[in-house]
Amino acid sequence: MNERFAADWLSLREPADHAARSQPLVERLRVEWCRGRESLKITDLGAGTGSNLRYLAPRLPAPQQWTLVDHDPGLLGCIAAPSGAGTLTLQTERMDLRDWALPATGTDLVTASALLDLVSADWLDRLVRECAGHGTAVLLVLSYDGEVTWTAADPGDAFVRAAVNAHQERDKGLGAALGPKATPEAAARFREAGYRVWIEASPWHLDAGSLPLAGPLIAGWVNAAAETFPEQAGTLRDWGTRRLEDLRSGRTGLQVGHRDLLALPNVR
Ligand SMILES: C[S@@+](CC[C@H](N)C(=O)[O-])C[C@H]1O[C@@H](n2cnc3c(N)ncnc32)[C@H](O)[C@@H]1O
Repeated sequence: MNERFAADWLSLREPADHAARSQPLVERLRVEWCRGRESLKITDLGAGTGSNLRYLAPRLPAPQQWTLVDHDPGLLGCIAAPSGAGTLTLQTERMDLRDWALPATGTDLVTASALLDLVSADWLDRLVRECAGHGTAVLLVLSYDGEVTWTAADPGDAFVRAAVNAHQERDKGLGAALGPKATPEAAARFREAGYRVWIEASPWHLDAGSLPLAGPLIAGWVNAAAETFPEQAGTLRDWGTRRLEDLRSGRTGLQVGHRDLLALPNVR
């Protein structure tokens, strides 16, 4: 079953995503891979409304040609280019990633943001094969890593986290999802394919000022856990109400773990 994402949710998470992302990995990409190229051809998989484009384009040398791939035409229709990024050419491609392959014409970078945890091991194999076959660099960011840390614990936290992490491994449209295992699985495959790989943590740091994002996030966790444990739905709803109030009152902060991964071919 294909997972659908609302444009509102993507715009709520964009500031937290941009604040969380690893700058050193982008700097390494810029210096070790982009420097000296006359232009950059970049493909963004599961591009949504273009959050990855808005973060990355101003940080990489121009000119850049972006292909933004997604199966949701509504999201692709909301893509807005960032300011201050120099010369950018954008094209969107409405496509199910089940059918995706890299075009023969040289792509320099394949990137994806908040996508890798949704894909299956088979689809990841294909991604690695395609990228290695074309010698492209790869930047896969903001993949959920299963770590949820509250600064003040509640007895229900561990149960909810375990239920959510199990739910993350359901089929999201590309086969049984890798969920929290996605980044280590990708790292192993890219290393095996001859890539140099770097991983950095990119957690969201949420507090009383993050309620517009934290509210739907916690509600989503409650729903996911209640799908697996319907008999616990009431307890889970109480947990969600309590934890949102804890966050609102400043009794706790919340860290949601993600990983960023950069893979560079050995030969430039
Ligand atoms: C969590 S959102 C991330 C969107 C965007 N990269 C960002 O960082 O805001 C995942 C994106 O992947 C897209 N997606 C999920 N499954 C897909 C599939 N099978 N084919 C194409 N796009 C897919 C969704 O439509 C959505 O835009």
